[in-house]
Amino acid sequence: MDIRVSAGDIAAAQADVIIVNLFEGVTSPGGATGAVDRALDGTISRLIALGDIRGRSGEVTTIHTDGKMPAPRVIVAGLGKSEAFDIDAVRNLSANLVRSLRKPAIKDVATVVHGAGIGALDLAACAQAIVEGAVLGAYRFQRHKAATLRDDDRHELVSLTIVEHDATRVSTIEAAVARGRSMADATNTARDLANEPSNHLTPTMLADRARAIAAGANLEIEVLEREDMESKGMGSLLSVAKGSAQPPKLIRISYKGRGGEGYDVALVGKGITFDTGGISIKPAANMDAMKADMTGAASVIAAMGAIAALGPKVDVVAIAPCTENMPGGNATKPGDVVTAMNGRTIEILNTDAEGRLVLADAICYAKELGARNIVDVATLTGAVTHALGDVAYAIMTNNDELASRVEVAASAAGEKTWRLPMFKEYDDFVKSDVADQKNTGTGGRGAGTIVGAKFLEPFAGDTPWVHLDIAGVDMSSSEKGWVSKGATGYSVRALINVAAGFAS
Ligand code: BES
Ligand code: ZN
Ligand code: ZN
Repeated sequence: MDIRVSAGDIAAAQADVIIVNLFEGVTSPGGATGAVDRALDGTISRLIALGDIRGRSGEVTTIHTDGKMPAPRVIVAGLGKSEAFDIDAVRNLSANLVRSLRKPAIKDVATVVHGAGIGALDLAACAQAIVEGAVLGAYRFQRHKAATLRDDDRHELVSLTIVEHDATRVSTIEAAVARGRSMADATNTARDLANEPSNHLTPTMLADRARAIAAGANLEIEVLEREDMESKGMGSLLSVAKGSAQPPKLIRISYKGRGGEGYDVALVGKGITFDTGGISIKPAANMDAMKADMTGAASVIAAMGAIAALGPKVDVVAIAPCTENMPGGNATKPGDVVTAMNGRTIEILNTDAEGRLVLADAICYAKELGARNIVDVATLTGAVTHALGDVAYAIMTNNDELASRVEVAASAAGEKTWRLPMFKEYDDFVKSDVADQKNTGTGGRGAGTIVGAKFLEPFAGDTPWVHLDIAGVDMSSSEKGWVSKGATGYSVRALINVAAGFAS
């Protein structure tokens, strides 16, 4: 989809459909909607008077222009009550509209910046949200069903033109469009990686895809092989890889926008390309979902592409420890003790709590590389779904300031987060009788998501660190607003905002 900005009168736009909007309770439309209404000799006002258009949120009314305007159709999108309309609503509206326009007759769409008129929302934020919504809403993963696709499935919009009446605002909108485009493209890249089944995305293939992303964005990339991990003493990460026939890969991508020492922030993502549970094997039902146990890795890898495109003055490193978790003959067994890169020993009581094991060494590596802040993102626990459902993801931290930064960054991306406590009383949950710590909590004591974070905390040590458990939100069974079916790309835009927030 080509996205353009043009100055002029929306009623004069050449497109297959023009989208204007209406807030609930407005009886005589002004601005762009008023201009289109006049061009249509008052059709929109008459439909409002008839009660057919009410401006309710989600309402979509298509009007055929019958030669009164260059465009053959107008859509009046209801925005709901103006006081309830915000940037998240703009993004979701845009995504839903693009989805509703999936038909071969619609190729070129013209729209105004919804919400920036009587909605009084920030112009740049609105324009960015429209682009994000459009690009995210258009996303579908159909790579493996090409033979059975119908015309509507194949259909893609050719162009989206944002028409602005006031020419002095065009440059602001153009900058916002570029930002929204990079952020949404990165999110779709993460979705593509996560939606790929595990036989099409082994750690080796994920490393190859990361190399292609890095090459496209002119970023430095390094892939550590098993031998490299061995020489660095990454016994925790390697213990997870032992049961698999696929070699593990630790992917590092660096962006030096400031050119300083070390990194302002490291983004660390869990990359289990398939999680069977290992010897502590998972039940058969829904195990296929574990092909997406690498959405953390997908997020940090994809985010780097957008960070490079946006070019903030900040130094960022993405680290993705990638492996399968399989119950092979050489697999780690419950009770085994392994040693992480920082010398800490770990008693592995449940081989299905593998995400924390790969993250432990990746966090150590981030510190070795000179990371001054660490944000890890992982599908770490099923328990977070019980706590927060698919509405929000959990944040845990050893540093309130960094956590606040992440919360602000996520909120700007339209992602809801919720802080879970790190009370010292939880420390006991990861104490082991035989090693420095164990990888699961004591059976029945609950707090599974916090226990995951408590396991990681000593590896971060004094370095400010935030842990994001995205296991409840990274996949969706339905399309809704900017959220796609399958992999959602949650955390990608938040991480880009986090990195940009460190820019000097
Ligand atoms: N990848 C899973 C967590 C998960 C579960 C993600 C469901 C998405 C949906 C993780 O590796 C895991 O298995 N965690 C265990 C930890 C337990 C053994 C302490 C869990 O949540 O049951
Ligand atoms: Zn697991
Ligand atoms: Zn897992």
